[in-house]
Order: sequence, then structure tokens, then C-alpha cells
Amino acid sequence: MTGARTATGSIFDALADAYAATRPGYPEQILLDIERILGRPLAGADVVDVGAGTGIATRLLLRRGARVLPVEPGPDMLARLLAATPGLPAVRGDGEALPLRADAVDLVCYAQAWHWVDVPVAAAEAARVLRGGGVLAVWWNDVDASDARWWQRQQDRLERMSPGYRRDYRTRPYADELRWTGHFEEVVTLTGRWQRRIALEDYLTWQRSKSYVAAIGADLGEYLEAERDSVLRAFPDGIVVEPFRTLLVIARVPAQPGSSTLAE
Ligand SMILES: C[S@@+](CC[C@H](N)C(=O)[O-])C[C@H]1O[C@@H](n2cnc3c(N)ncnc32)[C@H](O)[C@@H]1O
Repeated sequence: MTGARTATGSIFDALADAYAATRPGYPEQILLDIERILGRPLAGADVVDVGAGTGIATRLLLRRGARVLPVEPGPDMLARLLAATPGLPAVRGDGEALPLRADAVDLVCYAQAWHWVDVPVAAAEAARVLRGGGVLAVWWNDVDASDARWWQRQQDRLERMSPGYRRDYRTRPYADELRWTGHFEEVVTLTGRWQRRIALEDYLTWQRSKSYVAAIGADLGEYLEAERDSVLRAFPDGIVVEPFRTLLVIARVPAQPGSSTLAE
């Protein structure tokens, strides 16, 4: 799935309120893994958080002491980020043309946003702005409930109602795609599992914050009502237990500029 940009910003702009209210955060382990591969603490590191949205990952990085520049194409998402974190330098921009000079940062990250960019273009941009030995880290929270009937019912419904939606749309060889660009000397994939408990109404708001749910259009009300009934069957007390799998891919550029080669 690509193409979140619109003439005025991002398709996520219309979803900014629902997004800010209910999107899950990310496990701290992601930052520990990045520090390990980067070979230095994030405290004092220069970081660009691309596709920063409402700032969920930006705030996580700030709490760890990083100097963070959020970059985001959607003005409404950016406004939400600034409302939650006033005074932060934040830039309207695109991962395929980063508004940064070369050799500017230690870490480029994309939290739940890498699937929106053209990989060869955005990887070249990340490699350009990274200092020698710096890393590109891309990660996602994916609901990991393929053995649950309520989730299967939801995915059937989405494939029927959301144009072009497929439940496997994010199962791509992300690490290999990065290796094939030739910009990185090391690419690793790490996964983790966790879960959250969320009240049904918040769960439905979270559903609305997804671009492929918004794409249902005029039948959105019908979708949400069916979801409510289906999820209540699985969780009669109205507290949804959502299992997540976190996928993290980290790619390091060579310490010496120009020593990487394009893959054959
Ligand atoms: C699912 S949201 C993730 C937001 C945030 N990083 C988070 O973790 O909640 C995806 C974000 O990617 C942004 N985006 C879409 N296309 C982009 C592009 N080409 N360059 C940078 N960001 C993009 C969207 O505007 C949106 O804010």
C-alpha cells in the first residue's frame, strides 16, 4: 500500500483526532535494540522521526534523551504533534525528499510509516542524511490475532468492504528490500510480542483511525456496527484484549562513506 499523500497533506489528516486518542504506543525494547545496533545511547543522539504523525514515537525518543526532528507531510497530524509537544522543531516534509543536509543525523526512524514510501528512494534519502555508522530503523505494531475468530471475521469484512485491502498487505521482505538497495552494510530483523486491553468504544475509534477503514467510505457505519457485534461476542465484558507483534528492521550504513556496494 503506498500513496498516503494528498494535494494538501496526508490522508491521515482527517483521522488525526481518532489517531491521537487511541493508537497504541511502542515497547521500550525497540529503543534498546536500536541503541545496541547503533552502538551508542540515544541520549544526545540526533534523530529524524519520519512520518511522525501525532508524535507517538517522537515522544518515546525524546523521553530517552534524543534530539528529535519530526518530519510529517500531513499538516493536521503535525498540528496534533505540536499541541502535545509544544516548542519542538517540526517540519512538514516527505521521506522521499528529506529536508536535511547530508551527514546530519545518527538515526532515521519510521514508526508505522515505512510502508508508505518508495523503498529505493526513501532508503537513498535515509543513507544520505545518516552519519557514518548511523542507522535507519523502521517498525510496526501489527495485531497478531490470526488464530482468533473475531479477527478473522474483521479481516473478511475489510477485504469485502475496503477497496484493495488484503490482510497480508504488510507481509513484505522489508529487510531484503533494504539489502537490495546497496546502501547498508548490516540489516537485522527483530520481533517482539505484547498485548493491550482497550475498551470497546476506544477500540472502534482506533479502527476508524486506520486508512483502510476510512477507505470504506459511505458504508463505514455498517462496518463499525458489525465490528461492535462481532467483538462483543468475543469480549462480552466490553474490554478487548489485543495481541500485538512488533516488527523492527534496523539497517546500518558503513562507518566509512562510499564503502557500500549495490547488490547484484
Ligand atoms: C500510520 S501513521 C504513523 C504515525 C506515527 N509515526 C506513529 O507511530 O503513530 C503513518 C504516517 O506516515 C505519514 N506518511 C505517509 N506518506 C509519507 C511519506 N511519503 N513521507 C513521510 N511520511 C509519510 C502519514 O502522513 C502518517 O502520519
